[in-house]
Amino acid sequence: MAGNLPPPIALYQLATGHYISRSLFLVAKLGIADLLSDGPRHCNDLAKSTETHAPSLRRVMRLLASAGVFLEEENGEFSLTAIGEYLRTDVPGPQRAMAMLFAGNRIQEGWKDLEFCVRTGQPAFRLRGVTNTFEDPLRTSEDEATFDAAMADLTRLTSVAVASAYDFTPFRLVVDVGGGNGSLMIGVLKANLSLRGIVFDQPAAMERAREQIEQHGLAARCTAISGDFFKEVPAGGDVYILKHVIHDWDDERAAAILKKCREVMGPRSKLLVIEGVYPSRIDNSAEGRGRGRQRCQHAGEHRRAPALSGRV
Ligand SMILES: C[S@@+](CC[C@H](N)C(=O)[O-])C[C@H]1O[C@@H](n2cnc3c(N)ncnc32)[C@H](O)[C@@H]1O
Repeated sequence: MAGNLPPPIALYQLATGHYISRSLFLVAKLGIADLLSDGPRHCNDLAKSTETHAPSLRRVMRLLASAGVFLEEENGEFSLTAIGEYLRTDVPGPQRAMAMLFAGNRIQEGWKDLEFCVRTGQPAFRLRGVTNTFEDPLRTSEDEATFDAAMADLTRLTSVAVASAYDFTPFRLVVDVGGGNGSLMIGVLKANLSLRGIVFDQPAAMERAREQIEQHGLAARCTAISGDFFKEVPAGGDVYILKHVIHDWDDERAAAILKKCREVMGPRSKLLVIEGVYPSRIDNSAEGRGRGRQRCQHAGEHRRAPALSGRV
């Protein structure tokens, strides 16, 4: 982000990063990118379509133009850049839900309590007496749907990598534990035509997973089962997947989930833990960015490779 700017300017940009983040959330919520899918439009026009105040919307659009999301044309119209295209809902690999989640109110609220997190080592939701973010009474069904859709935005990319990096051909049944709305499983099953799958997650996520499985024509090979991975995990899998699940939990609860998997695994079953594994030294390269967030949003952490191998 800082590039070659003079250090005080770079610092100013870092300090005002939330301006960009809030603006990104708003344009994602208003569906501006879809309104620009057929080409550039004037802000007055966009304001009419979104029932917003044109001069204020223009300021937001210009701020995001400065961050490379939109292009302000000579005639005052705005168009999408390559980054902005991903806010559309009708492109391959859309990222609108991801932007809605990470720039959205729930996560912004959590980050207000960063000092609490740093002083206590606890996630922000503990301040409100909540011990499990997935059972937070303030989490609405809309929040849940946004969360699942955002995970799917991120996971669609990963599913291609997982399906090509891991040889599933010796196996018959894969169980994705905490599999969200099924995006990973859908990618894996599409790449492995003789494989069957079970996606296992909480009930609301499983309703959405069933829709996705149906839409992708995989109902004959894939089942969505709802439940609680602290109580029980579906048996019979040759491969168990935990993707971005372990990082949500402290060591005790992470171990409890791993034990539940172990209980139903046969001697030849495999467990694939798919997580971001972070380097021992962080720099300002793309790989190093954004690594401090877990303590604010979750009870777990992004573990380093030795910590993961020690536990699994
Ligand atoms: C960070 S998301 C990861 C989702 C998915 N694996 C992915 O990477 O896209 C964690 C998932 O764990 C699920 N989860 C949380 N608590 C659970 C529980 N007690 N039993 C089953 N699933 C749970 C959530 O609903 C959510 O889908």
